Amino acid sequence: MKADIGLIGLAVMGQNLALNIARKGYSVAVYNRTAERTKKFVEERVKSEKVLPAYSIKELVNSLSRPRKIILMVKAGQAVDDMISELLPYLEKGDLLIDGGNSHFADTDRRLSELAKEGILYLGMGVSGGEYGALHGPSLMPGGTREAYSLVEKILVEIAAKTEDGPCCTYVGDGSAGHFVKMVHNGIEYSIMQAIAEVYDIMRKVMKLSSEKIGEIFERWNREELASFLMEISYKIMSWKDEETGKPLVELILDKAEQKGTGKWSTQVALDLGVPAFSFGASVFARAVSYYKEERQKMAELYKPNMKTAENIAVEDLKKTLSLAYFLSYSQGVWLIHEASKSFKYNVDSLEVLRIWKGGCIIRSKMLDFLRQLLKNSQENITFLNDERARNFVEERLPHAIKVTNLARSSMIPTPSLNACLDYLFSLMTENLPANLIQAQRDFFGAHTFQRIDKPGTFHVEWQPLE
Ligand code: 6PG
Repeated sequence: MKADIGLIGLAVMGQNLALNIARKGYSVAVYNRTAERTKKFVEERVKSEKVLPAYSIKELVNSLSRPRKIILMVKAGQAVDDMISELLPYLEKGDLLIDGGNSHFADTDRRLSELAKEGILYLGMGVSGGEYGALHGPSLMPGGTREAYSLVEKILVEIAAKTEDGPCCTYVGDGSAGHFVKMVHNGIEYSIMQAIAEVYDIMRKVMKLSSEKIGEIFERWNREELASFLMEISYKIMSWKDEETGKPLVELILDKAEQKGTGKWSTQVALDLGVPAFSFGASVFARAVSYYKEERQKMAELYKPNMKTAENIAVEDLKKTLSLAYFLSYSQGVWLIHEASKSFKYNVDSLEVLRIWKGGCIIRSKMLDFLRQLLKNSQENITFLNDERARNFVEERLPHAIKVTNLARSSMIPTPSLNACLDYLFSLMTENLPANLIQAQRDFFGAHTFQRIDKPGTFHVEWQPLE
């Protein structure tokens, strides 16, 4: 009996995905570079005959039914290329490799074309949901050719998370569309996580609320308009007690945030494509500055920021602010996907993307239903903002967001994501930006020319005599 599918890489995500596949009744051959890990996995976690350990690439490939389908769950970067090189001698035309890691989309495009020359099919698949999602149902974002997708569609749809709007898996689009969409998912993830953290900061520093109390508020919010995975984990974190000290663990965690790169990449590509993903960049920089702990300690000592405690801030203000930040984070992300889809010919259906983000993934939230309604109403409304219902939503929250960010300014509390979300919104709402002065400056020092509002054409002025 040959296995239905193979899986390489038995780190946390790989292990759980393999078990998920087996639980759905498919046989899955698994391989890990170090045999120890495979043995340990089989001993400790495998109870089903559907999981078949292999101890060499050859054994793995030979144990698969044709055309072979192999999911790679190895670290993004060189490890993916190395694994592909190792596999190639054993593969035949028509076999399929699926990269389920957080690969950079440009790498995925390169691999796609290299493998196409060998007749090997390839899918770059975003997988979101962490280890729990991998086991119980992740959100899957596969991209590549439809032909490749059709070979694994059934399995992927079965292992994906389910919502009332169907399984959280769809064919995302051509080329590296799947990895691109997952990368943008992470840009949104960064932006929302940072916004939640900023609201938390105001709650503890200005409102002087305890972690337990903040946890209670977050828990309530999670039952209302902010219902989302990130809100859910945040309230659970707030009430978690450290076993040793009995204190809330969050208060004992060092304020240095790490990053693996996907948030940075989504900002980089937003810069390349000219999409104003303000809060993606701000959230990446927020992580960067968090890293400079010692410098911050010295500066805090030197400047002694004067924290004014504000009298009139309400929990409701923070809730409305955060919900606007969620909305604007999704707005920037969907705009980015839309532009990339045009530039890179991905053919992404953003409505479908919003649907498969409804379950399994890190940015799943109740708000996605509202966003889908807005986009359904007009497919052109890629920022969601160009709609009466969106305007009502924004107008109801904006005064609260202005109040909260003003308060943060006067209390010298950094709120990069919230501010960036608002600057994104305000910029879009502003008919006359001061870019006229920028153009004049560019023309002044570099003869870069400008356009006029009163007549067509391109103009240049000798702002100062050259000689
Ligand atoms: C997901 C997550 C996942 C991972 C990120 C974290 O959707 O399941 O996004 O892919 O947690 O890579 O990224 P950072 O390490 O950059 O925070």
